[in-house]
Amino acid sequence: MSTIPRDPARPSLHGARRGLGRYPVRYSAFGLCLLAVLVLAFIHDTASAWWWIATALAVVLSVVGFRDLAQTRHAILRNYPVLGHLRFFFEFIRPEIRQYFIESDNETLPFSRAQRSLVYQRAKGEPDNRPFGTQLDAGLQGYEWINHSMSPSKLASHDFRVWIGGRPGAPSSSVEPCTQPYEASVFNISAMSFGSLSANAILALNKGAAQGGFAHDTGEGSISRHHRVHGGDLIWEVASGYFGCRNDDGSFNEEKFTANAREPQVKMIEIKLSQGAKPGHGGILPGTKVTPEIAEARGVPVGVDCISPSSHSAFSTPVEMMHFIVRLRRLSGGKPVGFKFCLGHPWEWFALVKAMLQTGITPDFIVVDGAEGGTGAAPVEFTDHVGAPVQEGLLLVHNTLVGAGLRKRISLGCAGKVISAFDIARYMALGADWCNAGRGFMLALGCIQAQTCHTGNCPTGVTTQDPQRQQALVVPDKAERVTRFHHHTLEALKELVQAAGLEHPQQITAHHIVRRVTDTEVRLLSNLLLQVEAGALLGPLDELPTVFRLYWPLASADSFRAQEAVPGPAPQHAGATLPTAVLAPRSSL
Ligand SMILES: Cc1cc2nc3c(=O)[nH]c(=O)nc-3n(C[C@H](O)[C@H](O)[C@H](O)COP(=O)(O)O)c2cc1C
Repeated sequence: MSTIPRDPARPSLHGARRGLGRYPVRYSAFGLCLLAVLVLAFIHDTASAWWWIATALAVVLSVVGFRDLAQTRHAILRNYPVLGHLRFFFEFIRPEIRQYFIESDNETLPFSRAQRSLVYQRAKGEPDNRPFGTQLDAGLQGYEWINHSMSPSKLASHDFRVWIGGRPGAPSSSVEPCTQPYEASVFNISAMSFGSLSANAILALNKGAAQGGFAHDTGEGSISRHHRVHGGDLIWEVASGYFGCRNDDGSFNEEKFTANAREPQVKMIEIKLSQGAKPGHGGILPGTKVTPEIAEARGVPVGVDCISPSSHSAFSTPVEMMHFIVRLRRLSGGKPVGFKFCLGHPWEWFALVKAMLQTGITPDFIVVDGAEGGTGAAPVEFTDHVGAPVQEGLLLVHNTLVGAGLRKRISLGCAGKVISAFDIARYMALGADWCNAGRGFMLALGCIQAQTCHTGNCPTGVTTQDPQRQQALVVPDKAERVTRFHHHTLEALKELVQAAGLEHPQQITAHHIVRRVTDTEVRLLSNLLLQVEAGALLGPLDELPTVFRLYWPLASADSFRAQEAVPGPAPQHAGATLPTAVLAPRSSL
């Protein structure tokens, strides 16, 4: 083993310590406390208030030092009595110190200061213009911009809408089609349950949505009493725990589903297959957190662990899932029914598309969630390394539907760190019809990204069930902020659409967005990312990108499993399961 030669000029700490004999320097702080006690006892000036304060301090610290030496949990305190506590203190305040003094404006953890400031400014109705020019480096690889027009358009309203479930009166080709389509905003509140969010947060989000005319997704915790107070449009999320529509054994209950789904406030039903932060994991709300209000919303017993299994019990094959979709649509009285998922194995997604083709049943919408998505709490391996990011998921989903000739029947939403109007424009260019934001709206509620959602100690009352902490979140004020954030973001989107000379953000395509790929080269996204021809999957696959040629044949409408052994990492397709790699067109211009 090699050792680093020591600089002879540098004084040796060990040498210094040797000079002190075998006295362990690390005990100095504790030793000083004991010495202070002795000196103060010697002085014994009981008439002085300072003497009392100093003595109390020295005694308390000495007791702490003895306790540190005696305890067995923290080695650092046994070796550094008294002094070791500084480490815990600095660890405790590190996030704040980092956020206030160290982090740069564009460092993302997960949202940069620039992103957070934008939300705060828009939510508060403060000026959001930037002086002096961009802080981004236009010469860096990955820098993107939207091409503008020499003849910008002039639009009357920023209130961009998208029909989900088909335009009223328009023919629908799905079996038992939607009869109550929903005209949604292109920007809505993503799924976040009452339970992960506080009652006041839910109240403010829903009031904000009602004021601004956009939709609020309930999250898998179902519809709580707080969702119903202000009457904002709801997307009811039905996940594997079937909260709000379950039997005691956790299976799906038709009557309870029908009662909730037919409420006029519920505009759409979203079956949750997975979420980007922890796809394939499921979840558990510990019994201690199952309060009477949460239990009432979810239809579970108070104080008992509330489990979301990792898969659904109402269906186990793609075809069965299509029949479940049509069943929910019928029970809801014809409302749009869709599903949310984060892309995993491509053949499982293809199996769903094959089931749509085989049964003629199509969901009214699909929401693609990205691996960069948030959650109240997730295992670190899942949040960091499971699931496809939104760009790859969205591209594969959009292009598969185009290739299967189904795209016009299904609206596409997506979520994954959407904060600015450019984020929305970019995802719409990749194929989305609308975008959802979860954490963007949390920031609008006053979240400071303290990242303590899982502890119940949220400093701004957004993700806590502590009644006192949530009082800090004043509903009428924060509801205004939610409305304003939505309003100003769509105003900014309108300005982008106008600058590009278009009439609606849905007209933004990958041909409008340019990306720097090297110091000297830029490419349109349309030349970098996959674009499949309409109906291409219904014919020979030879000319299609690798992901389709490899995995489409393996998918079956009758099973989520691949039908043959999935090919290993063939040399010419190394990394082929990564959608961007396999989605790239055969040649780039
Ligand atoms: C606190 C919190 C709770 C969430 N709860 C749910 C949930 O119940 N169901 C779900 O489908 N997604 C849930 N999500 C994921 C979001 O709906 C969203 O898909 C994801 O965070 C990506 O959007 P964002 O980057 O705008 O936050 C939650 C996210 C957060 C931050």
